[in-house]
Amino acid sequence: MNILFVGDIFGSAGRKIVREHIEHVRESREVDLTIINAENAAGGFGVTPQIAEELFDLGADVLTTGNHVWDKRELIEYLTSVPAESKERPRRVLRPANFEPGVPGYGVFEGTTDSGVEYAVIDLMGKVFMSGTNNPFLAANEILAGIKANVIVVDFHGEATSEKVAMGWHLDGRVTAVLGTHTHIPTADERVLPAGTAYQTDVGMSGPYDSIIGVEKDLVLHRFLTGMPGKFEAAKGNPKMCATLIACDPKTGRASTIQRLMLGE
Ligand SMILES: [Fe+2]
Ligand SMILES: [Fe+2]
Repeated sequence: MNILFVGDIFGSAGRKIVREHIEHVRESREVDLTIINAENAAGGFGVTPQIAEELFDLGADVLTTGNHVWDKRELIEYLTSVPAESKERPRRVLRPANFEPGVPGYGVFEGTTDSGVEYAVIDLMGKVFMSGTNNPFLAANEILAGIKANVIVVDFHGEATSEKVAMGWHLDGRVTAVLGTHTHIPTADERVLPAGTAYQTDVGMSGPYDSIIGVEKDLVLHRFLTGMPGKFEAAKGNPKMCATLIACDPKTGRASTIQRLMLGE
């Protein structure tokens, strides 16, 4: 079976470029499971229920997020509008699973593809140079102990390359894929690890690349040059959709290939 993972959608430019390409990719690559990181889909900061619905309309099965998940407050109501056992769209929007216990929403979704394959998606966030998370390595152990599906995709939302590489090895042979998000720059290290886990340090942003990780470059440069605070706005120029395709055995969950995509205008 084929899995498509789309990296952090950033602002309207990111949504537009994904809208332009995703249908063709899903059809031509016979994609069975589509996962999108949507944490920056709303103007670069968070995701609204309306935008989440738009991404589901484009064929997403599960949306993951990261440190920006709470930027749009209205998402909290959406996440908590359905019970834990629901398979409805709001239950398919994940926040990092290793946040403090008791925060709204869920970090794991277990579902079944149209062709009847059980799968799980786990959203985890790093601890290095990030705040508000518990040990993601121990969290992964605990979560995996309760999952029955063999096809398991982990979005590891992290800042530090070392922590992401470590997670790849930690989960090799235990999940189908460990895909990094958050840095907004795709890495060229995609590979299938020896025990069958597809790994990439960062899938890269689906958004405007004439920017500083999605934000208007002049605004970020001003902050670096002066140290002064200022409003950040999503850039528009040079949009690319960055995504990664994984082929795996639907019975064992073992990955056979991983391929990175970068599609522009
Ligand atoms: Fe992001
Ligand atoms: Fe992030």
